[in-house]
Amino acid sequence: MPTAEGQRRKLLIDCDPGHDDAVAILVGHRHFDLLAITTTHGNSGLENTTRNALAVLELAGIEGVPVAKGAASPLVGRTYHAQHVHGKSGLDGHDLPEPALQPVPEHAIDVIIETARANQGELVLAVIGPATNIALALRKEPRLAEWVGEVTVMGGSGGWGNMTPAAEFNAFCDPEAFAAVVHAGWPLRMVGVDVTRTVGIDAADIEILRASGKRTAVVIADLLNFYMTRQTERTGLTHAPMHDACALIPLLDPNAMTYRETRVEVELAGTFTRGMTVCDFRGSTIESPNVRVAVTPDRQRLVGVMMDSVISYP
Ligand code: RIB
Ligand code: CA
Repeated sequence: MPTAEGQRRKLLIDCDPGHDDAVAILVGHRHFDLLAITTTHGNSGLENTTRNALAVLELAGIEGVPVAKGAASPLVGRTYHAQHVHGKSGLDGHDLPEPALQPVPEHAIDVIIETARANQGELVLAVIGPATNIALALRKEPRLAEWVGEVTVMGGSGGWGNMTPAAEFNAFCDPEAFAAVVHAGWPLRMVGVDVTRTVGIDAADIEILRASGKRTAVVIADLLNFYMTRQTERTGLTHAPMHDACALIPLLDPNAMTYRETRVEVELAGTFTRGMTVCDFRGSTIESPNVRVAVTPDRQRLVGVMMDSVISYP
């Protein structure tokens, strides 16, 4: 969807595919000028998330989008994966062929820095996995915070978590990195799991994808059926939650999500709360707001863009 100037916004996606990351990539390429994808640990190990990103591009016939490998572990502490949700490969549900596409030799951190430098003020940086690459890029090049036009993060929560009672998965996997993103001083939107878990592709939608007869949509249907089944088994959800695309679509359609200017801090030391995003919705702190936190999703609008985007590919 073009901006007011008729241009598609320039986008870099940092991700950990991951079923919902896969749909976000398809939405991102369809509606933005997707300049690059960088991969990180998270839903699975870095080799898997990188292979999965390449496999999604190849499935959809997307060419010319460089994929750069990033961090295999967080800044501090142990590495967590989510194979209980996304499967051993990180994208179970359909045996995707080993991609012929290869990652570029450059490190993700350098691709993030160089892409932002070359598109100062214009780049949308979408962070839909643990934020390790972003934190390392900020450490290597502090001017990144001025060069990036806007950051949109899927992570944290304005309520309870999905990895612990207090912490959402991406923030929990690297709390220090999430804190660096929150304190970088750039324009920042955050869609938390309290909001995104309510937005999903359900069994009826999966049948629509299958009925499209489009190869990409049919394979995505298989993948999301696996992901939905795991979610139902674990949480009782009756849809495949599309956390990550919720970070992108409101930039296309402002009516798809409401946000609230909020002071957000990240708990780093709590025994039971490490990785929690403490959102001061009542303005009780003296600190000024640093994040636009998503509050109310328009599920129909969000899922409509996801479905149309997936079906638009061959
Ligand atoms: O908590 C949901 C987030 O963790 C999503 O980005 C999902 O892909 C996983 O990375
Ligand atoms: Ca993700």
